[in-house]
Amino acid sequence: STNATSMTSISGDIKSQLHGGYSHPLARAWQADRQLTKSMLVYPLFITDNADEITPIPSLPNQSRRGINTLVPFLTPLIQRGLRSIILFGVPLAPGSKDALGTSADDPKGPVIASIKLLRRAFPDLYIMADVCLCEYTSHGHCGILRDDGSLNNAMSVDRISDVALAYALAGAHCVAPSDMNDGRVRAIKLKLIDEGIAHKVLLMSYSAKFSGALYGPFRDAAGSVPSFGDRKCYQLPPGGRGLARRAIQRDIGEGADAIMVKPASAYLDIISDAKELGRDMPIAAYQVSGEFAMLHAGAKAGVFDLQEIVMESMQGILRAGANIVVTYFAPELMGWLDQ
Ligand code: PBG
Ligand code: ZN
Repeated sequence: STNATSMTSISGDIKSQLHGGYSHPLARAWQADRQLTKSMLVYPLFITDNADEITPIPSLPNQSRRGINTLVPFLTPLIQRGLRSIILFGVPLAPGSKDALGTSADDPKGPVIASIKLLRRAFPDLYIMADVCLCEYTSHGHCGILRDDGSLNNAMSVDRISDVALAYALAGAHCVAPSDMNDGRVRAIKLKLIDEGIAHKVLLMSYSAKFSGALYGPFRDAAGSVPSFGDRKCYQLPPGGRGLARRAIQRDIGEGADAIMVKPASAYLDIISDAKELGRDMPIAAYQVSGEFAMLHAGAKAGVFDLQEIVMESMQGILRAGANIVVTYFAPELMGWLDQ
């Protein structure tokens, strides 16, 4: 009979029957090891030295450079909706604010230090991260102090970067995150935090696996940090360098990093997964960078996909790879989507 035939075909191939396991939306959600939550999100902010300024960044849809006076009104509704953490980038615009040493990076009246102090007071529960680099503050736009031949002076750069990190931590940053890629900066920062007696209350997150490539363009527009000559290929990692990334991650864990960042995210999911394996006892952050953000917006605008759907899919990929923390310009939108 037909009945007997169908029973035979099913019992002969019982392992092929998967659909029942994900026929319901809730059952589909259970297929993921972990769900995205608001507390995983970190929102990047660009702070200028122009106190009342709000300037939209053309290559970064819906993102603006902001002066310190605009921060509290901007962040209040986001924090009410569940935003827990931000990462600050300083954008000095005043004439003369850049020099060969990046002197203004730790200016006590500069935008980053002033914002850290203000935000600590205004939002006691907000977790404040400070990106630590010199490229926004150097006249040449590179991420350290240079030798005469234009290459990085590693010793001088590390000394300067660790001073800047210490200044941000003393101003009240909960986390300092060096993105400069100078060798040995994690150890130097950790030692200065210990010396100062604040290592126990500051999280040191290293951008360990930061790859050079085409995805930072909108950020450099926003931060005014395009190098005036050359590129960053001798300090940021080559895109094919998985082994190099593993060595950098292991090195930074050994130098005292409390968390490891991988950047960019979507094209480097194998590196996120390596970071989770090598740093299985610590949080792993993924930075969905400006170029990824702009690309998803451009695709959605061109009708290639729905923005919410593609962003949620990219988040699933980043989480599946092993990230616990996601730095993303989509944080405000995600806050709303996670409420649905
Ligand atoms: C500064 C820094 C950059 C980013 C984070 N910190 C730019 C760069 O290295 O050129 C990129 C972030 C983004 O593209 O969203 N060193
Ligand atoms: Zn830099």
